[in-house]
Amino acid sequence: MTKSTPHIEPNDVPIAKTVLMPGDPLRAKYIADHYLDNVEQFNSVRNMFGYTGTYKGKTVSVMGSGMGMPSIGIYSYELYNFFDVETIIRVGSCGALQPQINLYDLIIAQAASTNSNYVDQYNIPGHYAPIADFNLMVKAKQYADQLGATVHVGNVLSSDTFYNADTQFNDQWQQMGILGIEMESAALYLNAVHAGRQALGIFTVSDHILRDEATTAEERQNAFTQMMEVALEIAE
Ligand code: HPA
Repeated sequence: MTKSTPHIEPNDVPIAKTVLMPGDPLRAKYIADHYLDNVEQFNSVRNMFGYTGTYKGKTVSVMGSGMGMPSIGIYSYELYNFFDVETIIRVGSCGALQPQINLYDLIIAQAASTNSNYVDQYNIPGHYAPIADFNLMVKAKQYADQLGATVHVGNVLSSDTFYNADTQFNDQWQQMGILGIEMESAALYLNAVHAGRQALGIFTVSDHILRDEATTAEERQNAFTQMMEVALEIAE
């Protein structure tokens, strides 16, 4: 195991086999403060805070990923390939793209379609479909059901753009059954499979792209709690 990388300097604080990754590093701090015991900080490079602690006796880490595929691409690559991390669970928000989905629902990303060329680096002679780890996905769905969450499982879009110049953009992806749009999971799934590791993305719906609805930070808390309980429960 590497001692440090250009973006992660743990200074001998261990990183767990499972890392939860919200986009926002302050969200990582919030998760560590509110859900984990025995917390130690393992990263502060570029303020991309990372923490290791315990949840119901299991050792779990949590670290921000930043926004977008280049950012999560760097952090997840280093965690998998230099720090022997087995599983990364992205815990994020997404914009819903189907009428049957409502604000605060949970979405589990079975697959992550993308308009990014992140996959081109592998020189695959075709179009690779980045998918979640099946076992993690099944466990997440079962536990979300147990919690009584409204949960949708399917294809999300990992988009390189938050603001789209093309006015047809959302309609075309909606037509292809995309449940919601976020900006990171495809790169995470690609890094996971390339390293022979596992990944899953779980999201709370923070806005509705079709209906132009948005949540407030306060209102998101309940859905966020369900998402966190699912992620922490399936962490090994
Ligand atoms: N688009 C992209 N990423 C997002 C969105 C969105 O509407 N909502 C939350 N993350």
